[in-house]
Amino acid sequence: MTLIDGKATAASIKKEIAAEVEQIVSRGGKRPHLAAILVGHDGGSETYVKNKVLACEECGFTSTLLRFEDDITEEFLLKQVEKLNNDPDVDGFIVQLPLPKHISEQKVTMAIDYRKDVDGFHPINVGRMAIGLPCYISATPLGITDLLARYNIETKGKKCVILGRSNIVGKPMAQLMMQKRTPGDCTVTVLHSHSQNIKEECRQADIIIAAMGVPNFVTADMVKPGAVIIDVGTTRVPDSSRKSGFRLNGDVKFDEVADKCSFITPVPGGVGPMTICSLMKNTLLAGKKAIYE
Ligand code: GUN
Repeated sequence: MTLIDGKATAASIKKEIAAEVEQIVSRGGKRPHLAAILVGHDGGSETYVKNKVLACEECGFTSTLLRFEDDITEEFLLKQVEKLNNDPDVDGFIVQLPLPKHISEQKVTMAIDYRKDVDGFHPINVGRMAIGLPCYISATPLGITDLLARYNIETKGKKCVILGRSNIVGKPMAQLMMQKRTPGDCTVTVLHSHSQNIKEECRQADIIIAAMGVPNFVTADMVKPGAVIIDVGTTRVPDSSRKSGFRLNGDVKFDEVADKCSFITPVPGGVGPMTICSLMKNTLLAGKKAIYE
């Protein structure tokens, strides 16, 4: 079994990005600039955004963090989005989700100029990805395809089971794995909370991508010997032995599945670090105006 080291892979990609940025700047080009809007004080979001800002520093990007309290109005937030859309210095930006309940995430996502949508959440980017056009691809699926490529994992003609159908992981992951390219060319099955025969479907899979947010859902009896296991789960479970009071738990029962598979991503240290790294890749593309304009 090979442990897929997302932390090391992300670190080397960030070094590659930093080298390219210095080259751009030394030739008189512009340093890429990522802005992030964070509304409220959700613990998970605070950590994600902090790590995004740190990753910007590692890559040599300029970053701007705009923080607002969770009682702001939707109208006010839409105005902030508009300001960033029109700010020529900002190459790309994100609005960290989830947003407070009184604000429509859909409205806000759609208000972001798709040319600056480095999260790849805008319907134009989602649609372009579905038909194989250049676009910003959402960070987690992009990070997973990078891991498959960097570990030379064969995907062509393989049966790939995706557990979960979220807009930011399951659905785009399915699109990417079925596309006519490498990694891709898979026969894809998407399973979700209303699917039947989940165990049987998983047992036939050459590649399982688990993204349903149910800790330890994938057990050894669901895994074909030699399968590739990608664990996207990051559920916080209480753990009094940790300073933070919690630990991150994947969707895969790692200890029993690891012995049976050919490749596996750990949690933490697998897909997680790749997600932020993919946002950095998209920001570099935005800085270079490589996709739009
Ligand atoms: N919340 C959880 N994941 C993400 C992400 O990738 N982008 C944004 N904007 N919010 C998130």
